[in-house]
Amino acid sequence: MFETLKGLPADPILGLLTQYREDQNPNKVDLGVGVYKDEVGHTPILNCVKRAEALRLESEDTKVYIGPTGSAQFNTLMSELAFGKDHPALLAGRIRTVSTPGGTGALRVAADFIQRCKPGATIWVSDPTWANHTGLFETAGLTVKTYPYYDYDSKSIKFDEMLACLKQVDEQDVVLLHACCHNPSGADLNQSQWDQVIDVIASRGCMPLIDMAYQGFGDGVDQDAYGVRAMAAKVDNMLLCASCSKNFGLYRERIGSCSLIARDAAQADISLSVMLYAIRCIYSMPPAHGAAVVETILGSDELKAQWLEELKVMRDRINGNRAVLVEKLHALGVNRNFGFIADEKGMFSFLGISAEQVSRLKQDYSIYMVDSSRISIAGISSTNVDYLAKSIAEVL
Ligand code: LMR
Repeated sequence: MFETLKGLPADPILGLLTQYREDQNPNKVDLGVGVYKDEVGHTPILNCVKRAEALRLESEDTKVYIGPTGSAQFNTLMSELAFGKDHPALLAGRIRTVSTPGGTGALRVAADFIQRCKPGATIWVSDPTWANHTGLFETAGLTVKTYPYYDYDSKSIKFDEMLACLKQVDEQDVVLLHACCHNPSGADLNQSQWDQVIDVIASRGCMPLIDMAYQGFGDGVDQDAYGVRAMAAKVDNMLLCASCSKNFGLYRERIGSCSLIARDAAQADISLSVMLYAIRCIYSMPPAHGAAVVETILGSDELKAQWLEELKVMRDRINGNRAVLVEKLHALGVNRNFGFIADEKGMFSFLGISAEQVSRLKQDYSIYMVDSSRISIAGISSTNVDYLAKSIAEVL
């Protein structure tokens, strides 16, 4: 059976992890996978997580199956975090949320659910989008098409083209939007652009699927949910996939959530039953530990306040890194304006250099980034930024 297989290249993002780990250069810089790092290049466990885990260790008294929906308490708190406690769709009982194995698990559940609503449905994703979106949706049987999004020349969103494309989308199609901190470009819709996109989607009657993997890494937890909340107030049907990997630093615990919004509570219950069947057929039920940690934090005023503070520290550090890199490149007199990096949001930006220059940075300087020149800004620190800026200047 296996003889028919042809080997595949390593994942364009995760493959960098191995290459970086094997590199013996003491000056190596990891700007590959989107994980938060502190000044010394370490991805710490948040203090609020440590405290929640200690509490959990004390109180947990069973490891019995949790069921396909996951933890009810986690699901409630996650929908409140995303939509806001008083969102009309929440108050009307139109939202159902399930716990999932990470944001990727949430996306796979959403894709499988869409496939059950309309087999082979077309899903529109931004050009460019997270490298795993296409494979993930196609594996679930969906047809993937792209709408214009990022203009590599002007380093801005091709908003008119995006809107013109969305105006042609079929009523039966799905449109994937990034809630905030667009991965890979860092170029986010502003509120007025969100409002226009929402009007188009609502008037076309197609279904939005919003991917929110970085809530709190852009401008703040509530600010980053603007598009999610405004969209949910306008449409009958919507899906939201959220991740706790980055904002709670729970990467390896694999915890996220998938929410559906239906026309009314009865339709929401029917839709949930279909989603639960899909879950049972994929992984049966989600892991419990990450959800327990998150619900302990979000369910305690004190731990939640500590979490928001720690999240702000991560956000501020990343924004600080953006500004410092731009300054250093400017000070080196590079013949190019990198100012856009300071204006973009979240974990990523494109450096805007060629694949050949990316490869030289890796081969000659041990600086790792995705071939598209996407850099994970959290990998920059005061100890490597001079070397990084100088190396970029040299390959330019
Ligand atoms: C990334 O884009 O680097 C992260 O979302 C990690 C991943 O799984 O790709």
